[in-house]
Amino acid sequence: MPIIERVHAREVFDSRGKPTVEVEITCRGGKPSRAIVPSGASTGRFEAVELRDGDAKRLRGTGVRQAVANVCGEIADAVRGMDANDQEGLDTRLCELDGTPNKGRLGANAILGTSLAAAYAAADEKGISAVRQFSQIWDRLRPSKSPPANTAGIGLEPGLPLPMVNMISGGLHAGGNLDFQDYLILPVGATSYRQAFEWIVSVYWQVGTELSAVGFEGLLVGDEGGFGPKLASNEQALGFVVRAIEAVGLVPGADVAIGLDVASTHFFSDGAYRLAATGGQQLSSAEVTDLLESWCDRFPILSIEDGLAEDDWDGWKLLTERLGRRVQLIGDDLFVTNESRLREGIERGVGNSVLIKLNQIGTLWETLQTMRLAIDNGYWPVVSARSGETEDTTIADLVVATGAGQLKVGSVARSERLAKYNQLLRLEEQLGPDAEFLGGSIFATLQDCNLSGDSAKPLE
Ligand code: PGA
Ligand code: ZN
Repeated sequence: MPIIERVHAREVFDSRGKPTVEVEITCRGGKPSRAIVPSGASTGRFEAVELRDGDAKRLRGTGVRQAVANVCGEIADAVRGMDANDQEGLDTRLCELDGTPNKGRLGANAILGTSLAAAYAAADEKGISAVRQFSQIWDRLRPSKSPPANTAGIGLEPGLPLPMVNMISGGLHAGGNLDFQDYLILPVGATSYRQAFEWIVSVYWQVGTELSAVGFEGLLVGDEGGFGPKLASNEQALGFVVRAIEAVGLVPGADVAIGLDVASTHFFSDGAYRLAATGGQQLSSAEVTDLLESWCDRFPILSIEDGLAEDDWDGWKLLTERLGRRVQLIGDDLFVTNESRLREGIERGVGNSVLIKLNQIGTLWETLQTMRLAIDNGYWPVVSARSGETEDTTIADLVVATGAGQLKVGSVARSERLAKYNQLLRLEEQLGPDAEFLGGSIFATLQDCNLSGDSAKPLE
């Protein structure tokens, strides 16, 4: 049995140069195994608390020395001697030790680092890979029968995910003027992960070429590696992406569909959505819904994340009634990987998909429980990175182990992103037929989705 013997932590740095927590756990007879915690910029209000030192004299208050001290002290004392293979028991212990609903006392960064490092330490002691370990943990939650029709195939077996990849970045992730955070592509027509990835790289390069050709900053990239140009409107970005797909010989919609992360919470205040890119235009929830619907009519859009804000349940209901049968509607800030918020969404009939970010909730076990709840209720789970990332590849192993079907990591530039994409290439090679690529087939039940490509009419 992998018994936790040593727990250590240190402050390391993420892809924005911000301090973050690395935890190192050693099981009896094993080697030190580590995990690094990521960090968001467009965070939701309901996320678990990331503990920062707040000492303005050091690194503008972003240090995580207190979280590190919590791991090395109180947390280490509590988990030493525990069975690292019992993820549920370990994570429950961590939650109880913290004692707050949002992990605000010890810090979700301290707790998640421990939760993940324990899984890696258990894998090391057992002599198995991370993906095998995550798969064995998921086995305890893995649906035994086929989930509801629209997520059929998801979560049942290990599998390679469909990548959802950022091409153009705006919002809080890039210095341009776009209000919307991510303009993404989903290579739904690809038949293997490697092919999907090669298509993505081709389209990404082409977007850069197209932007440069008309004088935009085609080489400046945002926090997740997507291009961050100053464009004339939010909509113009869609035109660039569709043109790039066509220019590399792929069919918009059938081969490569479009996704958006509107990340609308950050431009929502006092009941209005305030769009800077269109001169401070103020829209109601219904008007944002109209706008998104009109885009879905004109572009091959398959997925929309955070189309409305984290508190706008009524708006979300309307959005789901209007678009929920033709488009994947992902709740990120809305659900924050939190089982009770997702349950509320399911009861209210809001959204049909949930973004899965480990550090929004703060333990591996709770993350998996939220995924299971999603699958049982026909919601697609989309495993996601944060805008502040590191070389840690946990999410790549996790998405394959669970067969969750989709992964959102950012763009194909910046090595903290490529660490995940490259890990998927390794897993595809190593697992072979044991990890099927589900690809775009997971969306078979969406109706009236404008993926034919013929009606895509990019502007200008
Ligand atoms: P974040 O962005 O990590 O800055 O929250 C990712 C997202 O909104 O999906
Ligand atoms: Zn988001």
